[in-house]
Amino acid sequence: MKIVKTIKEVREIVKLWKKENLSVGLVPTMGYLHEGHASLIDASVSGNDKTVVSIFVNPMQFGANEDLDSYPRDLNHDSKLCEEHHVDLIFNPEPSEMYGKDFYTYVNMNVLTEDLCGITRPIHFKGVCTVVAKLFNIVQPDNAYFGQKDAQQLAIIKQMVQDLNMPLEVHGCPIVREIDGLAKSSRNTYLSTEERQSALILSKAITLGQSLVENGERDCSKVLTSMIDLISSEPLAKIDYVKIVDLKTIQPVNTIEKPILCAMAVYIGKTRLIDNFIFEEV
Ligand code: PAF
Repeated sequence: MKIVKTIKEVREIVKLWKKENLSVGLVPTMGYLHEGHASLIDASVSGNDKTVVSIFVNPMQFGANEDLDSYPRDLNHDSKLCEEHHVDLIFNPEPSEMYGKDFYTYVNMNVLTEDLCGITRPIHFKGVCTVVAKLFNIVQPDNAYFGQKDAQQLAIIKQMVQDLNMPLEVHGCPIVREIDGLAKSSRNTYLSTEERQSALILSKAITLGQSLVENGERDCSKVLTSMIDLISSEPLAKIDYVKIVDLKTIQPVNTIEKPILCAMAVYIGKTRLIDNFIFEEV
C-alpha cells in the first residue's frame, strides 16, 4: 500500500492501473477511520481490482463555528486499518494541494441541499460536492462508496453524478452500529461517558420510528411525534431536526407513499450526531 500527498502521484499510479484495464474503487473519507469506513473499503475491495482511500479533512465543508480544528486525526491508525483491509493507495493531500491560491470554482446544488442538515450547515454541501467532484476528477474511479449514515450526502452525490454526467457508479453502504445501537461516527469520540449513554436515544428513536412505519403507519406527523417525544425524554439531548423526506429529492412529505428517508440531527451536549432509516417498500 502506498500513501501519497500529491495529485500528480495519484494520477501516475491510476494511469498505470487503467493501462492494465484494472477497475478502480474510491472511498472518500476525512480519516479517523472506524468499522463504518472499513465496511466501505471492504465493498470497494471486493468490487474492484484496486482501491483508493482519500483521507482529507475538507476545510470547505466546515462552517465558521464548526469543529474543523478539533476534528480527530490519526494517520498512523488510519493507514494500519487501510493496510489490514487491502487498500492499494491512500491519498492524503494538504489543503494547499486541493485548493490552490487562485481557487474560484465550486459545485453547488439546489433542492436536495436545502432541508435537513442544509438548514443548520448552509455551506456544508457546497464544500462536500466541490471536494467530491475534485476527488472524482483526480482519481477517476469506476465506483465510489459512501455511508448511508450520511443519507442526505449520499442522495446529493448521486444527484451530482447524474446531473454532471460523471462516469462512475455511486454505492451506498448500510449504517454500521456499535453493539448497543449507536451509529459509528468519528465524532463519537467527543462524547463523555455520560453523554455516550445519552446518545443511545438516537438509535432508540430510529428503532421506534422504523417499527411504526414497518407496522403500517403512513402518517408522518404520528411517526415524528412519537420519535420526538422519546428524544425529548433524554435530558442531555437537544433536537436539531427529526424529519421525513422523499428519499430522492430530500423534500418533506406528510404521508408515506414513496420511498422515504427519516433523518435526525440531535445535539448530545455540544456534539451534533446524526442517524436515520430508509423505508422503500411502499
Ligand atoms: O463523509 C465524509 O467523510 C465527507 O463528507 C466526504 C464525503 C469525505 C467529503 O469530504
